[in-house]
Amino acid sequence: MATIVSPLALECRECRARYPVEPLTICEECFGPLEPAYDLDAIDGVDFRKHVEAGPASLWRYESLLPGGPDVDRVDLGAGSTPLRRAGRLAERLGLESLWIKDDSVNPSNSFKDRVVSVAITMARAFGFEAISCASTGNLANATAAHAAKVGMPCYVFVPDDLERAKILATEAYGAKVVAVNGSYDDVNRLCSEVAEALPWAFVNVNMRPYYAEGSKSLGFEVAEQLGWRLPDHVVVPVASGALMTKVHRAFRELAAIGAVEDGSYRISGAQAEGCSPVAQAFASNADEVRPVKPNTVAKSLAIGNPADGWYAIQTARTTGGVVEACTEAEVLEGVRLLAETEGVFTETAGGVTIAVLKRLVDAGVVKRGEETVALVTGNGYKTVEALEGTIEPSYRVAPDLDEFLSALRT
Ligand SMILES: Cc1ncc(COP(=O)(O)O)c(C=O)c1O
Ligand SMILES: [Zn+2]
Repeated sequence: MATIVSPLALECRECRARYPVEPLTICEECFGPLEPAYDLDAIDGVDFRKHVEAGPASLWRYESLLPGGPDVDRVDLGAGSTPLRRAGRLAERLGLESLWIKDDSVNPSNSFKDRVVSVAITMARAFGFEAISCASTGNLANATAAHAAKVGMPCYVFVPDDLERAKILATEAYGAKVVAVNGSYDDVNRLCSEVAEALPWAFVNVNMRPYYAEGSKSLGFEVAEQLGWRLPDHVVVPVASGALMTKVHRAFRELAAIGAVEDGSYRISGAQAEGCSPVAQAFASNADEVRPVKPNTVAKSLAIGNPADGWYAIQTARTTGGVVEACTEAEVLEGVRLLAETEGVFTETAGGVTIAVLKRLVDAGVVKRGEETVALVTGNGYKTVEALEGTIEPSYRVAPDLDEFLSALRT
């Protein structure tokens, strides 16, 4: 069996200074972000794989490389173990030989955010926080509220007040208190940083951020496991804060470091919508910083104008040979429809962004025809139906009458 190691420490991503595993986020030496560090030398790749394969059908099967070892009482609503779907029809439409859809729209609250929240709430409980909170563009609100309900913790969710109805209604149904803020996500996030200073609450993506972000690694681990412990050639990732993109890269690096997969080259590319594309713009102009923007996009779940991990997302693209690209707002909806009609997977606007950007990258020759490609579909279309409103009408409108229907069918 693999040695189970909780993270040894928190480590600064910039200067590598180490800190104890506590609710800390920023390095005191250089203000760099902290992230959990593991003793990778103590984990044997073959043992790790066996341990994973014998584990639960949730992200906790990767416990050796996640915060919250077996000594911690874990919150498990079953996030993870989502299908990796071979997407033959979409591949053909795009002109690819081998394409997979990692379908995270079928998580417990229907987005990949269930992964990050599982880890964040687990650690928040271990640290003794009494209430759970978050700053959200919608999916995180649902995931936080659902997991807080599962463990009976009070939950306060802060969102911009123009979110899709389904996301607000579901959050309320889970019993959380919704704080609708008259402002953008970036305003919400700023407010939450202040509230986190004032109240003893665990904000999953603010004062729990180092643990929260680690949950995203499980998507990378799962892709590798589902490919038979192999890394794909290219992964396309939707980008809001940039944490997911950064963490897929880290997951692959860790798997290679412990010998659970063969070390080889892979590329990771990021996807944004033009109405909120600070990371894509910085990538395109080869800038040395990400300039904040004011979001105005149909992909509300990706509407972060000042992305915390934007710079690290650019680094991920650069070091792996990927890109960060934006699609138009119209292409977002085309992407949603293209995936639905070719693969039977109805994604939300963030998934539309992934598919639209993938299409652009294939057309531009950036994603090569022969590259085995994985597109991360991270959210569910039933949450953002208003984005399609007015673009789709019933094909026929008839009285309940056979002749009328047959004649409508002929025209
Ligand atoms: C459905 C969906 N996909 C992707 C993302 C991007 O995640 P990140 O903030 O880690 O870049 C989000 C963020 O809210 C999301 O809701
Ligand atoms: Zn530092």
